[in-house]
Amino acid sequence: MRLKKSVVMVGMMGSGKTAIGTQLARLLEVPFIDSDDAIVEAANRSIAEIFEREGEAFFRQKETQVLERLLEGPPCVLSTGGGAFIAQANRNAIAAKGVSVWLRADLDLLWQRVRHKSTRPLLHTPNPRATLAEIFRARVPIYAKADLTVDSAPNLSIDDMAHRVREA
Ligand code: S3P
Repeated sequence: MRLKKSVVMVGMMGSGKTAIGTQLARLLEVPFIDSDDAIVEAANRSIAEIFEREGEAFFRQKETQVLERLLEGPPCVLSTGGGAFIAQANRNAIAAKGVSVWLRADLDLLWQRVRHKSTRPLLHTPNPRATLAEIFRARVPIYAKADLTVDSAPNLSIDDMAHRVREA
């Protein structure tokens, strides 16, 4: 099967967009691209450094530019940062060129996956668990606008999940 549109992975940090997207791209035999990696490459510094030096608004501008550019390219599996699907302009760009897939995972699972990592500047707060919960509640209704929803579960492997997405 030749992919006509890009498959765009959306959802919270820790939902597995990059790991599952990488495996899905192998199954579909298309390139895998991570929009956060593309931002890091273009800016020549880490996401945390971009947030620290230029702030979140600047990061969001870069994110929109990078998404637009990547969506212009040939069909691929595109993993996005957790906030990318929140801006209407990004959702429009994604809808025009791709099929969005929300990797839905519950808050406890997300927290287990992100709690020991320091790479997410949005969680550099006095109470990161509460911050994650707040972001989760605000974003879930927006992720629900994705074309497809695939549920993540702790007992499923990355490969199982990639197959689930392909079936969907
Ligand atoms: C963000 C998620 C991160 C990264 C940035 C902001 C968010 O990506 O884009 O730290 O707003 O949820 P992951 O979802 O890959 O962690």
